[in-house]
Amino acid sequence: MGNQAKFSAGGNDHEFPILSGSVGPDVVDIRKLYAQTGMFTYDPGFTSTASCESALTYIDGDEGVLLHRGYSIEQLSEESSFMEVSYLLLNGELPGKAELEDFSRTITRHTMLHEQLATFYRGFRRDAHPMAIMCGVVGALSAFYHDSTDISDPVHRKISSHRLIAKMPTIAAMAYKYSVGQPFVYPDNSLSYTGNFLRMTFGVPAEKYEVNPVVEQALDRIFILHADHEQNASTSTVRLAGSSGANPFACIAAGIACLWGPAHGGANEAALNMLKEIGTPDKIPHYIDRAKDKNDPFRLMGFGHRVYKNYDPRATVMQKTVREVLTALKVNDPIFEVALQLEDMALNDPYFIEKKLFPNVDFYSGIILSAIGFPTTMFTVLFALARTVGWVAQWNEMISDPGQKIGRPRQLYTGPTARDYIPLDKR
Ligand code: CMC
Repeated sequence: MGNQAKFSAGGNDHEFPILSGSVGPDVVDIRKLYAQTGMFTYDPGFTSTASCESALTYIDGDEGVLLHRGYSIEQLSEESSFMEVSYLLLNGELPGKAELEDFSRTITRHTMLHEQLATFYRGFRRDAHPMAIMCGVVGALSAFYHDSTDISDPVHRKISSHRLIAKMPTIAAMAYKYSVGQPFVYPDNSLSYTGNFLRMTFGVPAEKYEVNPVVEQALDRIFILHADHEQNASTSTVRLAGSSGANPFACIAAGIACLWGPAHGGANEAALNMLKEIGTPDKIPHYIDRAKDKNDPFRLMGFGHRVYKNYDPRATVMQKTVREVLTALKVNDPIFEVALQLEDMALNDPYFIEKKLFPNVDFYSGIILSAIGFPTTMFTVLFALARTVGWVAQWNEMISDPGQKIGRPRQLYTGPTARDYIPLDKR
């Protein structure tokens, strides 16, 4: 018998097993807590609760460490490609040359959408937020790909996973094209995953589109930085939706809906809007004061993280990438200077130091995406595109776990106790 956690309640002592992962804090296994004590735990926001066992991603928030299957995000973003990281997340190991070629070919061959899906777009207003379109169109995929929705069949699961990863760039690019009134551009399978996405987004049928290799590499790196992030809100949403046996397309649509919020994936859009609103470095102190004011709901967008209490390692890579992209595209964006000075001022302010608030992945990403030419409304869409691989990998891990159960949290009820119904004429 391993270590036990002792718990006294109502005059009785109880013991619960302590489980250890390969690294990171131990967990108390309280699955029998209710049966033994008649009590639940109370943990809104899951700040102390591990909802599952996972071998995909490890974060040490105090040390600013992020590992995918043991490999650091710094090494992956510097030396790998998004396709390689996708393979790694899905399969557990880095691919060999032939495996990577085979995987890339498979993904490439699934990039086209069922032609009838194009008519879905026409049902949206032209000014629809592309995340609204993403929720709708991705949810609708299950109506088109019946041959990969049997979640008990590993082959179906594999095909639907590949389809989701492959079709997401096409769906995202079409959402953009629809908003600017340009024709949809079909995938070109001679290009890389990211190059193909750039062409479908910025190319037009009337002209040849040349992929800029610096932009292609920077965007690929941004995709790597967003690929997975442990049990964050949208991933937990995908797992919860999937725990009922819902098909993967519906689960990923649920993840997209959750990601849209400004406290999660919507923060990259909100961060750039905030930097533009600040506009010049002389206004920064005013916004820092607002962020510190308890009576003002304003927060520094792109700052703070539930898990990272040191520095978000993704933000470091992102800051470096901003410089590369701005230099390569010869863009002199004054907003970058505002961002650098805002970061500097906040990191020297006691409020941000005490609360351990640092720039997160979203703080700098908007500046790069904007320099590449994406409108702010597309930022969260790009996050969704990249996170799809993480969602799919986590969903697969959950379905293959023999201990998997439907997710069903309990509650601390504070409403009225049982009372008699009063007929309408007596109220
Ligand atoms: N600006 C000012 N104060 C902040 C900020 C901020 N960005 N973030 C947290 N605080 C304060 C907050 O007011 C609270 O103060 P107090 O203890 O006095 O009440 C304290 O810091 C702890 O904040 P919290 O909201 O309890 O922390 P949380 O772990 O629940 O929230 C967060 C984490 C990311 C939602 C939050 O930091 C935030 O809203 N940040 C801005 C939005 C953002 O950038 N989100 C992107 C997250 S990274 C990418 C992703 O996951 O999608």
